Amino acid sequence: MTAVQPLALELQPTWSGIGVGGPGSGSEPSGGATALPWRFRLRSRSPRRPCPTARTHAIAEGVFLAALRALGQALEAKDPDTWGHSTRVGALGAAIGSDLGLSEGERADIRLGGELHDVGKIGVPDDLLHKAGPLTPMEYLRVMQHPLIGERILAPLIHHRPAVLQIVRSHHEWFDGRGLPDGLAGEAIPLSARVIAVADAYDAMTSPRPYRASLPLATATRELEDNAGSQFDPDCVRALERALPGVRHPARQALRRPVLPFARAAASSWA
Ligand SMILES: [Fe+2]
Repeated sequence: MTAVQPLALELQPTWSGIGVGGPGSGSEPSGGATALPWRFRLRSRSPRRPCPTARTHAIAEGVFLAALRALGQALEAKDPDTWGHSTRVGALGAAIGSDLGLSEGERADIRLGGELHDVGKIGVPDDLLHKAGPLTPMEYLRVMQHPLIGERILAPLIHHRPAVLQIVRSHHEWFDGRGLPDGLAGEAIPLSARVIAVADAYDAMTSPRPYRASLPLATATRELEDNAGSQFDPDCVRALERALPGVRHPARQALRRPVLPFARAAASSWA
């Protein structure tokens, strides 16, 4: 009986694409560039059973995305009260994108961008992120550095998905040009970032915070309507309202329930 050969996950330099060998293979770029780009490669330990290329790439992509999502989870682990926010924003953004007729690839970028949109808050001091009272103008500007910090963190990892980086950078732009960090207006703001801006605001309003209860869903949508054309893209607000009936709200609670008791117990034991 032939033993089943497991797959091995290796980190290897690849030079120009799929199936190209490493150093000494004769396929290195000229000029002595030997280190980049690094990519995950999966190889069967049996040379007679090479991995099918599509499956290999699907597995490697899954590992890569899981590592990226761990970054978003690391941010939310700092604040149990926002647990699940980024995941919900990604899911709601994808639903809005579906209503807008965006392609599967565009929706995948929006989902990932939503999951990572606030990852730059890792670089913002906790006392500012959790300040109970209003922020001073200088504190506000410090907090609003997080889109740029997030873009800087993620750029080396996902430069091949620029739409995701645009979401991270531009999710606090305002439709009328009064947002940050670039003061973009209207359609100069990437559509995916306009979508996530609406999803982000909606989820934040409908989620409880230590200093306030969650707003009723109707109140939150009315707030978005009131700010359509100034802060938000009116088309994206209308798309959210159309998409909401298809969004499964019980899933939101499922995301929150298993984590909070553990996180709160851990926090109290560390205090
Ligand atoms: Fe943000």
